[in-house]
Amino acid sequence: MDAEQWEQIAVDIAREAGALARRRRAEGVAVAATKSSLADIVTEADREVEQLIRDRLAEARPDDGFLGEESDPRVGTSGVTWVVDPIDGTVNYAYGIPHYAVSIAAVTGEPVPGAWEAQAAAVYSPVIDELFHARRGGGAWLGERRLEVSRVTDAGALLATGFGYDPATHDGDLARVRRMMVLARDLRRGGAAALDLAYVAAGRLDGYFERGLKPWDHAAGALLVTEAGGVVGGRPGGAPGPEMTVAAGAALFARMQDLLDE
Ligand code: IPD
Ligand code: CA
Repeated sequence: MDAEQWEQIAVDIAREAGALARRRRAEGVAVAATKSSLADIVTEADREVEQLIRDRLAEARPDDGFLGEESDPRVGTSGVTWVVDPIDGTVNYAYGIPHYAVSIAAVTGEPVPGAWEAQAAAVYSPVIDELFHARRGGGAWLGERRLEVSRVTDAGALLATGFGYDPATHDGDLARVRRMMVLARDLRRGGAAALDLAYVAAGRLDGYFERGLKPWDHAAGALLVTEAGGVVGGRPGGAPGPEMTVAAGAALFARMQDLLDE
């Protein structure tokens, strides 16, 4: 089986999972538990949607591994691992803000950012019914439209960022925002990292940076960006991950990396 088929599996399951998330949201959402901090929440829907994705993948790809936000990882035997965020943008979801997404990626190699090679990806925003998808070497697409990252003009870059759930990191995050603003025409904080990356791929954002991301936050979105001609990394020379994730077209990416630290 090749990346084209993995992409189709990701797309089909993301659509079904997104429809379930949307239905559950319409029925009403309750916070089920807190995780790393009081601000870091999980709803019953996050768990149910992840279980649906797990079940579908187990049927379609029984030998593959699984790495998801809400359940235990599984090591596979095929060399393929599915990296899944059932609902990226959980706080938006809980507040009734429609900016959230299902994120599914198939990666090969060790299932660790920097060591893995992303092969296929789907990011589905169910409320506005937008399906971003990509496969290695096959381009990034929004439905039938091929995506390309933007080229920044003299007006400056439309940047996006995020702030993790740990209040102890906010001062550092805000200091970084201050430094980055020299590049910016404006700044967005959408609340869903997978969509931030998908929007960079689509040219809706010029650049994105955030500290503290988990593998499932960026696995699918990063492939969208690179297949749209952009660059994704961490600190200079590093892979995207908890320390830092930066995504943009090549020229802006280099300027953003220069401004990460004082
Ligand atoms: C979060 C979102 C948010 C980002 C956080 C992530 P979750 O994912 O992507 O935009 O700032 O770092 O943890 O918790 O909604 O799946
Ligand atoms: Ca999530």
